[in-house]
Amino acid sequence: MKSKGRFNSEWISSLKSAISLVEIVGENVELRKTGNRFMGRCPFHGDRSPSFSVNPEFYYCFGCKETGDAISFQMKLHGLSFEEACEDLAEKAKIPLPEGSSLTSEEERALYLKRQRVQKAARLNYFASLNYYHQNLVRGSGSPMFEEAREYLKKRGITSATIEKFQVGVAGPGYEGLTRFLMDAKAPLDLARDFGLIRASQKQAGDYDFFRERLLFPLIDLRGRVTGFGGRIMPSADARSQEVKLPKYLNSAESELFQKSKFLYGLYQAKLAIRETELAVVVEGYFDVISLHQAGIENAVAPCGTSLTEDHLKTLGRLAKKIIVFFDQDEAGITATQKSMEMALRGGVLLYGIRFESKLDPDEFLLEDPKGNLEKLKSWIEGARPLLDSSIERIFSESENDLEARSQAIKTAVGWLKSFNDPVGRSVRVSQLVERWRVPREALGALAPEGAGARPSSAQSKYQERGGGQSVGNVRTRSIAVPSGMRRMPISPADRQLLQFFVKVNRYGKFFLLARQEMHEKNTLSDLFDDTEVRQWVRGLVEDPAGIQRLTHAPESAIQGEVSQELRSVIMEGLLQEEVPGEEQVLGGLLKRAVFRAWVRFSHELKAEMLAADSRQDIEKFKELSEQFLDLQRKLKEFEDSYVSGKTD
Ligand code: UTP
Ligand code: MN
Repeated sequence: MKSKGRFNSEWISSLKSAISLVEIVGENVELRKTGNRFMGRCPFHGDRSPSFSVNPEFYYCFGCKETGDAISFQMKLHGLSFEEACEDLAEKAKIPLPEGSSLTSEEERALYLKRQRVQKAARLNYFASLNYYHQNLVRGSGSPMFEEAREYLKKRGITSATIEKFQVGVAGPGYEGLTRFLMDAKAPLDLARDFGLIRASQKQAGDYDFFRERLLFPLIDLRGRVTGFGGRIMPSADARSQEVKLPKYLNSAESELFQKSKFLYGLYQAKLAIRETELAVVVEGYFDVISLHQAGIENAVAPCGTSLTEDHLKTLGRLAKKIIVFFDQDEAGITATQKSMEMALRGGVLLYGIRFESKLDPDEFLLEDPKGNLEKLKSWIEGARPLLDSSIERIFSESENDLEARSQAIKTAVGWLKSFNDPVGRSVRVSQLVERWRVPREALGALAPEGAGARPSSAQSKYQERGGGQSVGNVRTRSIAVPSGMRRMPISPADRQLLQFFVKVNRYGKFFLLARQEMHEKNTLSDLFDDTEVRQWVRGLVEDPAGIQRLTHAPESAIQGEVSQELRSVIMEGLLQEEVPGEEQVLGGLLKRAVFRAWVRFSHELKAEMLAADSRQDIEKFKELSEQFLDLQRKLKEFEDSYVSGKTD
């Protein structure tokens, strides 16, 4: 791993030795020990049978071929930058971050201190959430409101498991509950103030609690940091506030830690399910998220009282292929749905919608008939369609007999399609307008097929693009530079098997010894392989004095660079193979055959050289070569005979 920014390679290797990859993965994937490695279901694709393998050095998925070390696991799973992943791992391992003072520029140092402050604030939020608000709810007796909160959640069908999963809490009516608690714990009050947990009192000295008389939903980001809280007014407080109506929901103030326009509630708890189903269900509210999760729809998330933003789509696009918008069917919800759809179209993304036949919000709908309505919900989610298509259908069928309404519908649809940043997706819908809805071509303006080339743009969604990858909304592929001209043919089974023997950990010595015995002295190890790319890779590895070492100790680095996906996966699988009794014999046989093929190739080369020597009339050279050639032919004949008769030894 190259050093990046303030993390030098020394620090990175100390980080790597301080953490256990198996443990890190184990936090997110259920792992089972098999042989000298662990197996589990891959968190990067919808994995039914365990194909995700983890050993102390690296992980590798036999299914989707994802691979990497602890840092890349953290990056990919949580959608983090390299720096962020290192920070999180260092925190887990309790090793200090590299000294900020070693940073060169004033700017870098300021940035470093700022990040440290943000991390500290997240810890403080976590502390307040778990040890104060959540405790109040689970077993607090300091205020009758704690009991009221327990009753209220029960009435709304929320179980204690769900309360735990989302770390729900409650703030009582006092002005100083949390403030005192933080003071007693000697927590940094300035941070608590800056990140919105408490406020400095205007009238007197001291601070007071920001959240009071509210159920609290900690806002946990993808990295598991508590970035802030969303607080719902407690019913009794709501009832008392007749004159000045308190807002039903109150969120933490915006900070470097919490930005409403980027945050999705429930994403931390939903991310694995979203990855697995490749589907995200976006609902409106906190309660909708937790009830859907409780009912088993664990890919539900919600923005915090905003419509969807580009940032939300970017985040979701890294995890899901399909995003379903499932907002309430009231005016606000319908408007927000349309706004979200239009925003996504501009980014080339089709949002999906469901036919939700209820005025209730998803949470109320589930409570109304937990079993029956869950089935309905599931089938609606199953049948989700692009909002663009259902919207076009709706406005056109509603304007069947009304010319003015029809012309409005045409304008609206044309507007949507014009903005849709996906030329192919756009053109199929333009045809549909003409054919199914009989929209006159003149009305299509620049969209009309004759006026083709409306706007040059990439068909690829800008949200679903993965950093460095070339996949379209597919989180599993990872782009590997394949030099042109390579990998036109699959690697043959023989090459595959031999190469896997070759890379098997700790068996190079054996391989070399056995191979040497069989090989022609003119041959090198790479000649054992037929495939050009494999040969090139093996040559590179054995020519590099530290190559074999690298393959053993840092397999990731040995397969970086210009290695095709196929070769990479053959190598990784080899690294993961275990010793099997009698394999030496298998290897012996494989080597003999590989050597045979190498000889055949070699004899072709000799033949060519002989022809060249002949045409140059270089008799001496020709004689020398033809002796070698005949010698080789004899060996090949011998080998063929013994091979046919089964006596390869
Ligand atoms: P709703 O008013 O639909 O509330 O707001 P809800 O989620 O159904 O809550 P319950 O079921 O009555 O308890 C939907 C979402 O809009 C945001 C919140 O994120 C809420 O979950 N919101 C709502 C606010 O941010 N502020 C408000 O005052 C109201
Ligand atoms: Mn509700």
